[in-house]
Amino acid sequence: MPDDDPELNVFPRDRTALASVWLIPLKMLDDDARAIQLGAVAEMALAADQTDFVGDPLRMMLISLEEESRSPYVIEANGEGVGVLTLQWGAARLAGWPDDESAWLLRGFLIDSKSQGRGLGVLAAKAAVEEARKLTARQGGGQAGVVLSVNERNPAGLAAYAKAGFVDCGRYLGGNSGPQRIMYKAF
Ligand SMILES: CC(C)(COP(=O)(O)OP(=O)(O)OC[C@H]1O[C@@H](n2cnc3c(N)ncnc32)[C@H](O)[C@@H]1OP(=O)(O)O)[C@@H](O)C(=O)NCCC(=O)NCCS
Repeated sequence: MPDDDPELNVFPRDRTALASVWLIPLKMLDDDARAIQLGAVAEMALAADQTDFVGDPLRMMLISLEEESRSPYVIEANGEGVGVLTLQWGAARLAGWPDDESAWLLRGFLIDSKSQGRGLGVLAAKAAVEEARKLTARQGGGQAGVVLSVNERNPAGLAAYAKAGFVDCGRYLGGNSGPQRIMYKAF
């Protein structure tokens, strides 16, 4: 097909346009900029069958802003907030890791339902690991990677993390919504 065929061009153009995500660190923003980001977070939503896997995005961001060990981020693509995630130090056992200190905990990770299925989850998970590496370099915390737990009934989460390079390290039976996989990626 010729290059100017409109049908052919839609998909590749979209993929190129979405080739990057940025993690906006909410704790580093001034009050006005943070309020704008939180306004976008308040609009984010998930499908009904996904709400077992993660909390309400705005609530999670507000909690993370209050806790010293947590760094909350808005995931931005093409200048728009499309999701959220939090990195936390000293809490890796919450994902079934054997100790708290040797890995960052990635928690509260989601992509707004309108933006799912376009590769943004994979890009954001990779970006989270790179951001965690930089935080360790800056703070000297001694972490060697990032760990998370993902529900075994969550195929999108399992696939997105695996595609981002996270390795399945076994089963974790903590939490309230059923068995989880422990997934880890070294820096
Ligand atoms: C998990 C989540 C962040 C993935 O984000 P996303 O932007 O939709 O993911 P991507 O588009 O990067 O997709 C990554 C891979 O997942 C796979 N995938 C996506 N949805 C899927 C589904 N419903 N079933 C099976 N695989 C799926 C695709 O195969 C895709 O790989 P591909 O590019 O080869 O097709 C998103 O689905 C989400 O926010 N879910 C609800 C909250 C949640 O579960 N968070 C994780 C808690 S640990």
